[in-house]
Amino acid sequence: MNGNIIILREVTKIFESGESYLKALNRVSLEVCRGEFLSIMGTSGSGKTTLLNILGGLDTPTEGYVAVDGTCLTDLSEEERTVFRRKEIGFVFQKYNLLPSITVLENLLLPLKLLDMEIQREEVEMLAEKLRIREKLYQMPDTLSGGQQQRVAIARALLYRPPVILADEPTGSLDRRTGTAVLEQMRDMSRQYGQTLIVVTHDEKIAKMADRMICLEDGEVVKDEWRQEGISAVGGETVEKSL
Ligand SMILES: Nc1ncnc2c1ncn2[C@@H]1O[C@H](COP(=O)(O)OP(=O)(O)OP(=O)(O)O)[C@@H](O)[C@H]1O
Ligand SMILES: [Mg+2]
Repeated sequence: MNGNIIILREVTKIFESGESYLKALNRVSLEVCRGEFLSIMGTSGSGKTTLLNILGGLDTPTEGYVAVDGTCLTDLSEEERTVFRRKEIGFVFQKYNLLPSITVLENLLLPLKLLDMEIQREEVEMLAEKLRIREKLYQMPDTLSGGQQQRVAIARALLYRPPVILADEPTGSLDRRTGTAVLEQMRDMSRQYGQTLIVVTHDEKIAKMADRMICLEDGEVVKDEWRQEGISAVGGETVEKSL
């Protein structure tokens, strides 16, 4: 038994400013096992990003309890949450993933530097090779296509092996085939490193690659399903070629 790495109890998030009041999450309770691959679906505005931000300590709930890898996030100060995030969470956003003023390689190594971690050069190259960005390592991010930049962000999140990877529509800027292929790489690498992977997506095919799929509606979990077969519908060879 791996145990739960993420525990949410009755999490509510209310955005309030002046006259406006919006309940983005309504008493959400969720447990995620260590090493699990979870996908989150739901219509626009249903609370997916809000949930990810709270899971990753980028935002705090209005009410409720959040614990990640044994740390109760709701007890931490903002500074402590930043330190926690650096160590524990790898974020992949849909856009603005990379720092534009440093090379792709420097972007990849940045979290390791912040954490004072050493990494073998071969490991960086191996991962870059797998994600088809090896020949781009010494270029500036804006000379890469959107999909290539996305893969750099994914490599960066995998490389320093945070226990949890949170990805908000990581395939949003990729065509469907490449998106599926990239997700397969993410899934395989995170499995190899024992990381918990949580992916927000609008694409049902991507969502079905996960071990478990939840669906949000108006800030509530309305569906929670475990899958048996995983990604077996996509052939490895096709995936390799499309990257
Ligand atoms: N900082 C904020 N201030 C006020 N309201 C917000 C804020 N962030 C999100 N909201 C509102 O909370 C609700 C949930 O937003 P959220 O970004 O979580 O949706 P989402 O499911 O990620 O949608 P999408 O698929 O479009 O990305 C929306 O109604 C949104 O307008
Ligand atoms: Mg969103």
